[in-house]
Amino acid sequence: MRAFQTILVTGGAGFIGNHLVRHLVKRYPEVQIVNLDKLTYAGNLENLRDIESSANYTFVKACITDEEAIKGIFSQYKPDAIIHLAAESHVDRSIHSPLEFVMTNTVGTVNLLNQARLLWGDDFDNKLFYQVSTDEVFGSLGPSGFFNEDTPYDPRSPYSASKASADHLVSAYRHTFGLPTVISNCSNNYGPYQFPEKLIPLVLNNIRNEKPLPVYGDGSNVRDWLYVVDHVLAIDLIAHQGALGETYNVGGHNEHRNLELVEIMCDLMDERLGNDVGTSRNLIEFVRDRPGHDHRYAIDPAKIEHDLGWTPTININEGLSLTIDWYLENNLWLENVTSGAYKSYYAQMYNVVEK
Ligand code: NAD
Ligand code: DAU
Repeated sequence: MRAFQTILVTGGAGFIGNHLVRHLVKRYPEVQIVNLDKLTYAGNLENLRDIESSANYTFVKACITDEEAIKGIFSQYKPDAIIHLAAESHVDRSIHSPLEFVMTNTVGTVNLLNQARLLWGDDFDNKLFYQVSTDEVFGSLGPSGFFNEDTPYDPRSPYSASKASADHLVSAYRHTFGLPTVISNCSNNYGPYQFPEKLIPLVLNNIRNEKPLPVYGDGSNVRDWLYVVDHVLAIDLIAHQGALGETYNVGGHNEHRNLELVEIMCDLMDERLGNDVGTSRNLIEFVRDRPGHDHRYAIDPAKIEHDLGWTPTININEGLSLTIDWYLENNLWLENVTSGAYKSYYAQMYNVVEK
């Protein structure tokens, strides 16, 4: 069991990051939690209003690719653990701007690795560099089988290739320099505060606004969904108890075809909004498929279950209900994040005329 004095979380103002930061700030009041984030379109300090004045919380605005800034922040706060989530995370955007993904996800990670080496020297006692990665690095599954920790990497989008490169560099720093590292590869997360460019919040937002629900291709692609808080609990366990140099797959055996998931959300929203049965399903529109769209992701979580005793606590029905209630109660948050730049992103991405 490792114990830390200062944990630096990168990307803590993003979707998973804000849940992680909130969890760490509350669970470890004696540990300083430093949230380092560039505040891109996906980062939002509104996500952390409830804990921003906690005595053990600090926010620092910086870009992970900025060598001088990261060096200064590391030397000021001297983190003994770095939990690295900052990334460009949306596959569709990576198809339009691959270079941006390589810069942040790959080059940014190397910069953090270098600065961690510089800060820690040869003293790796109770130190950790934790790379939070994705199951997309494994590529695409057919109708059967699961990704486990021995599945070879086979990334197929600029996003997953940039994350895979970063993972390889983390492993290289472990083997070459002895850096104390750990990597986890998680399946699709969902829950409150997810930016509405991703499938679940996009569909909920569009139902709310009675707008078409874009389903790529024929909607038969499969994703393995995990409630974000369960991912955060896994990250906490891995950070404190995961074996150095190891990788852990995180997922909850929650596979759904996209069309099936969208239909479930339509029905739950109709119930909440008092609509006639089937109202929201009428909004479903099949649109042009994502280029290179991975067919199926599915995680075998046996290792983390067996070695660290992690299992998901929230099933998909509970998780979707919590998520839908949150989005319905947080209209203002949705309004704020979907004004401005989101409108032009949406218009360009889905080929619709801006209103
Ligand atoms: P997100 O897009 O919601 O948040 C990313 C955060 O990183 C934002 O706060 C953004 O401002 C920040 N950021 C981006 N570029 C930065 C830079 N150059 N310097 C500093 N900060 C920067 O992403 P998310 O969904 O919360 O994902 C977090 C991490 O978890 C990512 O590394 C992603 O690959 C991984 N992951 C995500 C999922 C998922 O389903 N969302 C699943 C598995 C793994
Ligand atoms: O598997 C983990 C990954 O999950 C993370 O690494 C990524 O950061 C995260 O964005 C997510 O990637 P996906 O591409 O699977 O998520 P997204 O929500 O974009 O899409 C989920 C599925 O829904 C996918 O098959 C594409 C489809 N889709 C998505 C959108 C936005 C649609 O059919 N219509 C849409 O409008």
